[in-house]
Amino acid sequence: MARAQSRFVCQACGADYPRWEGQCRSCSAWNTLVETVVAARPRGLRTSTRLATGAPAPVALSAPADGPVDRLPTGISELDRVLGGGIVPGSLLLIGGEPGVGKSTLLLQVAGGVASGPAGGVLYATGEESTGQVRLRAARLGLGSGRAADAVSVLATSEVGAIIEMARASRPALVVVDSIQTMTVEELDGPAGSVGQVRESALRLMELAKGEGIAVVLVGHVTKDGSIAGPRTLEHLVDAVIDLGGDRGGVMRLVRAAKNRFGSTDELGVLEMGESGLREVADPGRAFLADHDGAAPGSVVAATLEGSRPLLVEVQALVSPAGYSTPARRASGIDPTRLALLLAVLGRRAGIGLGTHDVYANLAGGLSVDEPGLDLAVALALASSLRDRPIDARTAVVGEIGLLGELRPVSGLDRRLREAARLGFERAIVPSARGASPGRVDGIQVTPVASLRDAVSAALGVGSDEASGTRRGARTAAIPIDRDSPVRG
Ligand code: TYD
Ligand code: MG
Repeated sequence: MARAQSRFVCQACGADYPRWEGQCRSCSAWNTLVETVVAARPRGLRTSTRLATGAPAPVALSAPADGPVDRLPTGISELDRVLGGGIVPGSLLLIGGEPGVGKSTLLLQVAGGVASGPAGGVLYATGEESTGQVRLRAARLGLGSGRAADAVSVLATSEVGAIIEMARASRPALVVVDSIQTMTVEELDGPAGSVGQVRESALRLMELAKGEGIAVVLVGHVTKDGSIAGPRTLEHLVDAVIDLGGDRGGVMRLVRAAKNRFGSTDELGVLEMGESGLREVADPGRAFLADHDGAAPGSVVAATLEGSRPLLVEVQALVSPAGYSTPARRASGIDPTRLALLLAVLGRRAGIGLGTHDVYANLAGGLSVDEPGLDLAVALALASSLRDRPIDARTAVVGEIGLLGELRPVSGLDRRLREAARLGFERAIVPSARGASPGRVDGIQVTPVASLRDAVSAALGVGSDEASGTRRGARTAAIPIDRDSPVRG
């Protein structure tokens, strides 16, 4: 069969070359040449949806709609929650995650879930494992036999053409491609995983999805810094990007949408990796509270809101004198720039200087939270660790901290408080503005505070300068100190 011609096209200026070069001779950009198919494709492969369906006709916005789409439930409610109610037929999804986090496991379960529904069969194409390995895993997941197992067919190949041919012939409801980095199209010379191969493979699978109305899920490996060329360059192409994250050493797995054309990107799904695959967590609201008894210095529980789901999350901080070296700042699950900002505000607005201390802060359970309401918990955990004074373990806190040290209101305060009360928390420290008045709400004692200083006093029961260990506070009139507090020396 005649090989289709490929050219190397500069992604910066569009110039093309017959072979790869490190630098584009036209615009001088480095590493921008990507191998691209230019000739007509052999074997009558349809090159675009336009060819597949004839010339597209314009449609008025007021034209009768197609009616609500019947989504394919995946059988994993936490994933459906993130997707916005299941997989949309004819859509192209990308599931990214670090190697070993559980992508293949999740998708084999999804394959079983979709296959046991009314929608129809599933084609599970893998370029990573043999059919034997997939079947072993399926047996472990309880998919070894039965109706769902009959409806899932496994194809071990790394040839995109073979997957598309098979899908056109057997017309499954869902095609899983594990992983896009192992896939190649015959017409390109580049190795699997190169930008050209990844992009062309994904484009052809998109044609399959849109042209035939078959949902296609691509698996993409992402390295720790998310830098791999493949999946990131696919993000604009696919309808939704789902991240499977979590601490690989631990059992918790988190599902989030980084992009979603069919739903919100705010929702968080919480799963647990067990002996027989991923399963829903009985009580996600409690999943990120570390299990230790009683209060420990440096530990504070934050009442966060992930999309529509309130989550109580333990923030842990450790500060220790840095000696003569440059102080270390390490954050896990917390935005490092946000941590730096909180350290500055603590020093300037609350008299808690940590400039000569090493600072470590992280969230329990491998969770990462990107919500301003977490600020107060991080700041209080730092203050608590510095002072070596625990904050009562039945206290939950929430609030965004401004540059002036003021506490800003957060959204959904009552939902957060209700969840905290349900999980047995007895007190909540919240921003005083809007809607927060002292007293009991849903059985939880609410302490509204206006500033970080007040929050430190309320949580640690000491003035903030005293909390810094300088003991200047007792003599400085400007420092608000809870005068009735019995713990003041
Ligand atoms: P896998 O799905 O192969 O990861 P990925 O496709 O993202 O690379 O999952 C790998 C890990 O999951 C592996 O360390 C074993 C673990 N695992 C379980 O703990 N329980 C199970 O039932 C299965 C199938 C895997
Ligand atoms: Mg895998």
